[in-house]
Amino acid sequence: MKTLEDFDFNGKRVLVRCEFNVPLNEGGVVLDDFRIRKTIPTIEYLLKKNSKIILMCHLGRPQGQVVESLRLTPVQNTLNKYLDVSVVKAQDCISKEVEDLVNQMDPREIILLENLRFHKEEEENNPDFAANLAKLGDIYINDAFGASHRAHASITGIPGILPSGIGLLFKKEIDALENLLKNPPKSLIGIIGGIKVGAKAKVIERISEKADWILVSNRIQDEIENKNIIFKYREKIIMPVDGLGEGNNIYDIGPKTIDLFKEKILSAKAVFWSGPLGMIEKTAYQKGSKEIAKAIVSSGAFSVAGGGETVEFINAVGLADNFSFVSTGGGAMLEFLSGDKLPGIVALENS
Ligand code: 3PG
Repeated sequence: MKTLEDFDFNGKRVLVRCEFNVPLNEGGVVLDDFRIRKTIPTIEYLLKKNSKIILMCHLGRPQGQVVESLRLTPVQNTLNKYLDVSVVKAQDCISKEVEDLVNQMDPREIILLENLRFHKEEEENNPDFAANLAKLGDIYINDAFGASHRAHASITGIPGILPSGIGLLFKKEIDALENLLKNPPKSLIGIIGGIKVGAKAKVIERISEKADWILVSNRIQDEIENKNIIFKYREKIIMPVDGLGEGNNIYDIGPKTIDLFKEKILSAKAVFWSGPLGMIEKTAYQKGSKEIAKAIVSSGAFSVAGGGETVEFINAVGLADNFSFVSTGGGAMLEFLSGDKLPGIVALENS
């Protein structure tokens, strides 16, 4: 895959796919801007190279409709906090007006396109939609590692049309994670929780081939048990033995599970973690995730954390800087670690 050094950006329109899928509060304020901050070096690099920068991203799951609360104004405001050049937001991501706006740009100007997922064609990976986006650039840079497990138009469609490469953040992500994959230390532990349970069973199956232990949350345990999912290396998957909650609803791992998980973590050489172990939006159910975060840090193991909620949490409890690497990917990080080639990477390799 090409990297930034492989291109001459001078005066060119550079279409940059970013991962700005960040949590917002009800007032539309960005709660954790980690993903935005991590993309700033790529934008600054492109500014220095005198290019015209067109940023594009998705936010949330608006299902192909315009959802006012998912407009990108909070992302634009956050970018403006970190950049010297002020970012202009387009009203849409494809339209005659957007094309005119882009064609009037001078070098060192930045436009942020409106939420790509306001168009259902983005998630459908529609080739015409990809071609319309591609019209806005001379070069395509994917810096959205965290979204590159999605075969969507802005991720997999555009590399077939424009000269394409990866940004600085994308490069950092794959270097760190590849290092973990190529030299998996004894013992490697994966911790998997979170709310996007969907495809995690497959990921757990694949990762358990490499990891010594996989520790999972009560929610993942429920999914495994309810769906009667059979794993090849079942003995490597450690399920919670108790939980905290109300009635039959479990919202956090319990004290015995914390001890069990800690014992494993403290003897690990490398640990990766994606997805909180409980309902951390409620203080009463943060304990499990907090204790696990503390154990990871004090284990001295090479530690990787990823996923929007997990990263927001370790930032909030002041432990993020103690992790060896914090990934901007959640699902993408897990799929990458499971050995699957992300669709975004395949598209760039074939570009
Ligand atoms: C993420 O936050 O993991 C990515 O941006 C992908 O988002 P999605 O799960 O809504 O496709």
